[in-house]
Amino acid sequence: MAEALRVGIAGLGTVGASVARVLRDKAAELTRQCGREVVVAAVSARDRKRDRGVDLGAAKWFDDPVGMAQTADIDVFVELIGGDEGPSRSSVKAALEAGRHVVTANKALLAKHGVALAEIAEKKGVLLNYEAAVAGGIPVIKTMREAMAGNSVTRVFGILNGTCNYILTRMEAEGLSFDACLKDAQRLGYAEADPTFDIEGHDTAHKLSILTSLAFGTRIAANDIYMEGISNISQADIRAAGDLGYRIKLLGVAQRTESGIEQRVHPTMVPTASVIAQVHGVTNAVAIETDILGELLLSGPGAGGNATASAVVGDIADIAKSRPGFQHGPVFGLPAKELRPYKKAQMRSHAGGYFIRLTVHDRIGVFAAIAKRMADNDISLESIVQHAAGPDTALQKTVILVTHETTEAAVRKAVEGITKDDHLTDKPQVIRIERAE
Ligand SMILES: NC(=O)c1ccc[n+]([C@@H]2O[C@H](COP(=O)([O-])OP(=O)(O)OC[C@H]3O[C@@H](n4cnc5c(N)ncnc54)[C@H](OP(=O)(O)O)[C@@H]3O)[C@@H](O)[C@H]2O)c1
Repeated sequence: MAEALRVGIAGLGTVGASVARVLRDKAAELTRQCGREVVVAAVSARDRKRDRGVDLGAAKWFDDPVGMAQTADIDVFVELIGGDEGPSRSSVKAALEAGRHVVTANKALLAKHGVALAEIAEKKGVLLNYEAAVAGGIPVIKTMREAMAGNSVTRVFGILNGTCNYILTRMEAEGLSFDACLKDAQRLGYAEADPTFDIEGHDTAHKLSILTSLAFGTRIAANDIYMEGISNISQADIRAAGDLGYRIKLLGVAQRTESGIEQRVHPTMVPTASVIAQVHGVTNAVAIETDILGELLLSGPGAGGNATASAVVGDIADIAKSRPGFQHGPVFGLPAKELRPYKKAQMRSHAGGYFIRLTVHDRIGVFAAIAKRMADNDISLESIVQHAAGPDTALQKTVILVTHETTEAAVRKAVEGITKDDHLTDKPQVIRIERAE
């Protein structure tokens, strides 16, 4: 049998400790599958005394993950610390430069430094595997990087943040407010004490930026993503969506258009009958649309120790199975130097259907004025409905419009006009509608 693969794990928190447990509990299966043993030879975390729920006594301890990356007797450096700078970045860079393979679950690091790190990995002829960084346990990186040769991707979109999907699912199922659902998510450990990163779309954007690069062969452009979170989604939106045959999801969408590539993260209405609308709770899903394949949907657990460890261990096993001298495939599907500059499509030229909810004074002429603003901007309406709104039903009404395909620029201009007309009693709500099968 070949020599054992020696692994060093930096970060022994939720994911790191789970990886160590899976490597211990599944040692026999992994040895059979990889044709060699996989052993944890070194570990690093901040607190040496903390009980990790798994005996790591046989592994050499390092206080400093960079030191471990440079000097430990390991073949693979597994980075599970987190963060886009500091010890995670410097230790991954050090490991690659020392000619060691790297496995990471760190989307923030890849979104910011992925291409630079890929260049080092390719120069050194080592692997940089990151299956766990996008959609946790779902093997989406492998699918896009290895199983779709010859396909041209036209659009990739998904539910990439379990916290947001959990909140939206509960709001719909139980009629609860956003705030009440967020509190429950925090109590159950699905949301951080400071939930901004999840609910305002940053986490989804990091993951989307990696998928965009794989889908379109472009350099990662995480700062060029249009982003709206879910904190202003109300029960009125959820109910109106349901009445119209839609469900609201926070989607990350990357799409090729004539003017460039759109990358956007925002609350989205998807048809209730579509497959992605059936993805509930903390579950994640990624849809990949290509010219040859049509639409492929992968769904499953997007976070949590075990699910994420499954992806990390899969990446380690791929390295264990690879043989010395074997030419590894490029990190982002194409050699890092061949990734094209990202050409951003302007959000104002985004084309699609829109849901617009307006709360207006109940007076004569308002309905006609709204319809006129729409017509003036060449927006064709699929429906326009007016009904009573809020406690002051005698004074205000809700008007809900659904448009046929139009542009973001036209909708923004029409809504600006309606706001100027001084008919609104509350902020207008605009939610994009996404085509989904
Ligand atoms: N949790 C998930 O469900 C999930 C899912 C997908 C991807 N990820 C990604 O996986 C990574 C790890 O997440 P996590 O949830 O496992 O984080 P976590 O529970 O906060 O664990 C972080 C670990 O890093 C260690 N650490 C922090 N600073 C360090 C330093 N300077 N030197 C050495 N060790 C240091 C900590 O040590 P101490 O324990 O001693 O404090 C801890 O063991 C992140 O990139 C995250 O985005 C997580």
